[in-house]
Amino acid sequence: MHFNLTEEQLAVKEAARDFAQNVLKPGVIERDIHMHYPTDEVRQMAELGFLGMMVDPQYGGGGMDTISYVVAMEEISKVDNSCSVIMSVNNSLVCWGLAEFGTEDQKQKYLTKLATGEWIGAFCLSEPEAGSDATSQRTTAVDMGDHYVLNGTKNWITNGGTSKVHLVIAQTNPELGHRGINAFIVETDWEGVTVSAKEDKLGIRSSDTHTILYNDVKVPKENRIGEDGFGFKFAMKVLSGGRIGIAAQALGIASGAYELSVNYAQERSAFGKPISQHQAIAFKIADMACDIEAARMLVYRSAWLKDQGQNYDQASSMAKLMASSVAMKHTVEAVQVHGGYGFVKEYHVERLMRDAKITQIYEGTSEVQKIVISRNIFKGKQLYL
Ligand code: CAA
Repeated sequence: MHFNLTEEQLAVKEAARDFAQNVLKPGVIERDIHMHYPTDEVRQMAELGFLGMMVDPQYGGGGMDTISYVVAMEEISKVDNSCSVIMSVNNSLVCWGLAEFGTEDQKQKYLTKLATGEWIGAFCLSEPEAGSDATSQRTTAVDMGDHYVLNGTKNWITNGGTSKVHLVIAQTNPELGHRGINAFIVETDWEGVTVSAKEDKLGIRSSDTHTILYNDVKVPKENRIGEDGFGFKFAMKVLSGGRIGIAAQALGIASGAYELSVNYAQERSAFGKPISQHQAIAFKIADMACDIEAARMLVYRSAWLKDQGQNYDQASSMAKLMASSVAMKHTVEAVQVHGGYGFVKEYHVERLMRDAKITQIYEGTSEVQKIVISRNIFKGKQLYL
């Protein structure tokens, strides 16, 4: 066992850090205030290969491992979490889902464009009345022989307005419960797809979050993903990997707030010495460092398990639960370290504190992660760590 990143992983980390600090940071406060979608920045992420990192190069991806993806997510999330959620959804939910479960035709037609970032994708599972209780899908897809007719409403969809492709989860046979659910590839310019206004959010404000309405949308049969009835398991499998991406985002938020706090504590003086030399501040920094490092171990381990082809359902839930809790706790502490400066936008930590909250909610709330973890324990799947 060793804990070092490989040369390739270090190079990815360096490239992501350079991009985040030099390209994303200068405009991040303005984009956040005005909810401006980062169009140019997303284009540059595509050029750098950050939007299809784990996809096989034959489909336009980077062919990298999950750890490389995690370290890139971490660096970008230290600065701009609107960009990192766009990146996470496209990589882990959309590209990975198609790469793993799509047909060759689906990969040629959709994955090649999504992995290069020419197109952006969205994952449409949540509904007004089906958030944590994801089996209660009200969106329906009626089988008409050579196509399905899709009707329903999806909520809080990241990349909702900017995506060219939606992966939509819908009920095709209510009598079968979760076994009657399917997943479909839907192009957003098809008749009957309506994108409602952009949500005005607490954090990740420049990311593109919308409610989507599907009204009699004709979906060709070849756009169903997997066997009939595979949709719920598809969503669960995709989300297991997605949670690694969001855990990495949370880790980046915590690390970003930590780095800012360490620097600030050495620059700012009070009572005749830098505040880093006051135990009240130094101990906060020590607590941050320990908790972040512990979270990092869980996040990297879940990515490593995925790369090893081992089960990572419990590990990714643990990583997300822990990293999001550390992000929330220590961004609040980072604001405290910065005092009055922490409360104003210019110093970045208040934005990271607002961004941290969503990591405890999306891709499964912290409570959902505890359901997944405890069920894995008591089913004996992951009894011993
Ligand atoms: N892999 C494969 N199959 C799985 C699975 C997994 N990881 N997890 C569950 N399943 C299977 C189960 O085995 C079961 O199948 P069988 O009956 O054939 O055995 C089936 O799925 C149903 O599982 P459960 O009985 O456990 O289902 P449940 O109703 O009790 O719900 C839950 C479990 C974990 C709470 C689940 O509903 C869940 O994860 N909810 C949260 C949904 C979520 O994360 N939403 C996020 C929205 S996406 C988003 O946020 C993206 C964004 O834009 C940022």
